[in-house]
Amino acid sequence: MAFHLIFCFFAPILFIFIFPYLRNLNRRQPPLPPGTLGWPYIGETFQLYSRNPNVFFASKQQRYGSIFKTHVLGCPCVMMSSPEAAKFVLLTKSHLFKPTFPASKERMLGKQAIFFSRGRYHAKLRKLVLRAFMPDAIKSFVPNIESVAEHSLRSLEGRLVTTFHEMKTYTFDVALLSIFGQDRVLYSEDLKRWYYVLEKGYNSMPVNLAGTLFNKSMKARKEIARILAKIISARRQMKADCHDLLESLMSDEQGLTDEQITDNIIGVIFAARDTTASVLTWIIKYLGENPSILEAVTEEQEAIGRGKEEQKLSWEDTKKMPMTSRVIQETLRVASILSFTFREAVEDVEYEGYVIPKGWKVLPLFRNIHHSPEIFPHPEKFDPSRFQVAPRPNTFMPFGSGTHSCPGNELAKLEIMVLVHHLTTKYRWQMEGSNSGIQYGPFALPQNGLPIRLFRK
Ligand code: HEM
Repeated sequence: MAFHLIFCFFAPILFIFIFPYLRNLNRRQPPLPPGTLGWPYIGETFQLYSRNPNVFFASKQQRYGSIFKTHVLGCPCVMMSSPEAAKFVLLTKSHLFKPTFPASKERMLGKQAIFFSRGRYHAKLRKLVLRAFMPDAIKSFVPNIESVAEHSLRSLEGRLVTTFHEMKTYTFDVALLSIFGQDRVLYSEDLKRWYYVLEKGYNSMPVNLAGTLFNKSMKARKEIARILAKIISARRQMKADCHDLLESLMSDEQGLTDEQITDNIIGVIFAARDTTASVLTWIIKYLGENPSILEAVTEEQEAIGRGKEEQKLSWEDTKKMPMTSRVIQETLRVASILSFTFREAVEDVEYEGYVIPKGWKVLPLFRNIHHSPEIFPHPEKFDPSRFQVAPRPNTFMPFGSGTHSCPGNELAKLEIMVLVHHLTTKYRWQMEGSNSGIQYGPFALPQNGLPIRLFRK
C-alpha cells in the first residue's frame, strides 16, 4: 500500500522531468562539436592566451578538424576554420547569429553603434555608412589624403620611429577627414587626445569606479561626445554641401539622434584606425624584407609620376597599381590582422551534424582559412604573385563577409596606396632591432610596432 502511494506521488514528477529528456532522445539531438571545455568557468582561456593564439587554433584544428568546441573568457564557444563554415555563419545563415562584443567595448563605443545593431536599424546605418565610403564618395578625398600622407612621412625623416605608432597618427587623420571633411581641422587635436584616453579602456573590466581605466575611458567618451555635439550643431546651422560621413549620418530622413551619430562616429574611428595602421606596418616590414618586391612596387609607383606635369595623384592613378594591390592583398592574407570574429547563436543551430547551442559564441577563424595550405600553397611565404589569380569564393575574407562586412574597405585600400606611393618613390628605410616576433594588441603586429629609420632618397 505504502509503495503504491509513493509510486502515485512520484510518477507524475518523474514523468515531468524525464519526458523532455525522452522526447529529445527521440528527436536525436545532434552532438556538440568535438573538443574540450577545460576547467569550470576558466575553460581554456589560459591555454589560449599563454602563447600565440594562432598556435592554439591550429593545434585544435589539427586534433579535431575544422569545427571544434572550447570555452574561453567565461563563454562556451564553437570555432570554425573552413570557408564553408565562415560563409554559413556570416552570410547564408547570418540571421541565426548576432554580433557580440565584451561589455566594456559596447559601453565605450556606444550601444547604438553599427557593430552591435541588427535588423532594420543596422540596415539603415549600413546604407548611411556605405554611402560615405563608396568609391564615388571617397574619390574627392584623394588630394587631401595625399597631403596628409606627405606630411606624415616628412615628419618621420631621419628619426628612429615606431612604425605602428606613426601609422596610427596617419590613419586617424584620414579617418577624421572622411568623417568631418574640412571641419576636422577645428577639433582634431582635442579629439585625438580624448580618443587616446578612451581606447586605453577598451579591454578593461566594466567597473565604473573612480580611478579605474574604465572610469577614465568613460569620462573621455563624454568629452568626445561634447566635442561632437558642437560639430553637429555647427553643421546644422551651416547647411553646407559636404560629402563626408557626418553629412550622411545627419541626412537620414527619419533622423538619427545626436547620440546615435556620436556612437557611430566613435565606432568608425575605432574600426578605421588601428586596423589600417597595422596593415601599413606589415606592408613596410614585408617590403623591407623582400627587395625584389620592393623594387617592382617602386618601379610601378615611379611610372605613375612619369610624364606628368603635376606630381599629384588622382583617383585614376590608384587604379593603375596592380603590383601594389597584390602586395596589399598578400599582406592582408599573411598578416590576417583580424584572426577571427565573434558571433553568438540566437537559437540552437545545426551545422554539419553538430549542434551549436543557443547563446554559445561562434568564431569563424579567418587566419586559419588564409593559412590553409590546401587553399594557399606555402601559406607562410609572402608571395603577392599568388593574387594574379583571384582566390576562390569565401577563401579570402580580410574584410569579413556578409551583413557586417567592412564598409570602409575601399577607403582603407586607397589610403594604403597613397602612402605606399610616397613612401616608395621618395624614401628608403631600415628596420631596427629584432623584427621576427608578433604581438597582439589586439591586432597582429610586428614586435614592438616595428622600429624603423626613414631617409629621403
Ligand atoms: C585594412 C583595414 C581594415 C580591415 C582589415 C578591416 C576589417 C574589418 C572586418 C573583418 C570587419 C567585419 C567584422 C565582423 O564581421 O565581425 C569590419 C567591419 C567594419 N569596418 Fe573595417 N576594416 C578595415 C578598415 C576600415 C576602415 C578604414 C573603416 C572606416 C572608414 C572601417 C569601418 C568598419 C565598420 C563601420 C565595420 C562594421 C560594419 C558592420 O557592423 O556592419 N574599417 N572591418
